[in-house]
Amino acid sequence: MNAVAPRPARVPSGPLSDAADVVEVRPAPRLRGTLRLPGDKSISHRALLLAALAAGTSRLSGVGDGQDVRTTAGLVSALGATVNRRAAADGRVDYRVVSPGIDGLTEPEDILDCGNSGTSLRLLAGILAGRPFHAVLSGDASLRGRPLGRIVRPLRSMGAAIAARRGGTLAPISIDGRSPLTAIDHATEVPSAQVKSAVLLAGLRADGVTSVSEGVATRDHTERMLRARGVAVGTEAIDDTVRVSVAGGQQILAFDEVVPGDVSAAMFWLVAGAIHPDAELVLEGVGLNPTRTAAVDILRRMGADVVVEPTLHPGTDPAVDAVMGEPAGRLSVRSSTLRAVDLGPVDVAAAIDEIPVLCLAATQASGTSTIRGAGELRVKESDRVAGIAAGLTALGARIEVDGDDLTIHGGGALRAARTDALLDHRLAMTFAVAGLIADGPTFVTAASSAAISYPAFFDDLERVLA
Ligand code: S3P
Repeated sequence: MNAVAPRPARVPSGPLSDAADVVEVRPAPRLRGTLRLPGDKSISHRALLLAALAAGTSRLSGVGDGQDVRTTAGLVSALGATVNRRAAADGRVDYRVVSPGIDGLTEPEDILDCGNSGTSLRLLAGILAGRPFHAVLSGDASLRGRPLGRIVRPLRSMGAAIAARRGGTLAPISIDGRSPLTAIDHATEVPSAQVKSAVLLAGLRADGVTSVSEGVATRDHTERMLRARGVAVGTEAIDDTVRVSVAGGQQILAFDEVVPGDVSAAMFWLVAGAIHPDAELVLEGVGLNPTRTAAVDILRRMGADVVVEPTLHPGTDPAVDAVMGEPAGRLSVRSSTLRAVDLGPVDVAAAIDEIPVLCLAATQASGTSTIRGAGELRVKESDRVAGIAAGLTALGARIEVDGDDLTIHGGGALRAARTDALLDHRLAMTFAVAGLIADGPTFVTAASSAAISYPAFFDDLERVLA
């Protein structure tokens, strides 16, 4: 795959070995260790994009160094901000972004290549809708196949001139932005933080109050991070709907952000620890934003022995932390006895990125788990419903797919197999974790796609085996 540098060859006799882009994971006698996770991907993207909108210098620390976040850093620089990246400890990086501010961003000279990253493309489209110049965004084959109509329709109704392939639904997408835009009240078609964020970011350059209403509350990083940068963002719950609003014309202040560890990355280790018979793992400094921790709660509901210990950034007022900052803490997990779970569309929306690894947990639970309404998983970096069913079936699990619903019969041992990650980071890491408890070596093809969000994943895997 192009988006990720090939991993160096490993010695085949070690616990892991890879040839080309296949990693072999052997069953592990025990899992032990303390890990620090990559900086949260969603927060890292937003920290870079908001730094581009703020005039002055923003210092960002603990940023994730996955390929997707690097892509966003490159896009910010293509729009005229000065971006300096510095490697820090634990595979994290610090950035210093000096920007002329939202009104000083300049027309990019070339196509903006968003690689594999839906978040980069959709959030940036919202920003560019309010800039009076021409820009074209595209990406890799996966991204060019993912739905864009959900952002094109609201951004067009705000006044941006947008053209895209297949009747305005697929990248490449060209945007001729306008300032000011027309404020809108938008009800999202599917629960999506990317759509909400794109419309709110466009709303910063609209001539009134723009609102987004969602039937299911999605991750609220954009709202929190805008507030931290001096922008007033309203959030109100009306019956079963959450309405988020922003008035146009507000100034975005430069801000120094400390990015917590990625809770979505933490989930691979929480599931690994819960399903492995001899495991004790500790994850430090993990982001615990309540709009991101549904998967942790689901795993605990399944009986996982997971302990959550919130910590506060030194000097942070808990009341402020709850609404504006990004809460963080320590997670620990031990070998657990899991029971089946039934998840519906609201759970799927809340744990959208963690459903694949939760499916793996369900294969090891007593009883039959059901996941209903998982259609959005089909339009992620791969068709994750098909990918997870194929991979876990190859590993000997019993899974049925009926439309967008999955039924997983738990309790069976996993057998050695070859699995295909379909160039999808979350599938690569799910199958690698499965390999830790299979009855022989598990081969994961397209394993390097893990680097999209977690470049050190296989190094951390070796660490917990040691
Ligand atoms: C993200 C939102 C989610 C998630 C993605 C990151 C974000 O996508 O799947 O990994 O940072 O806003 P959708 O908004 O499409 O659900």
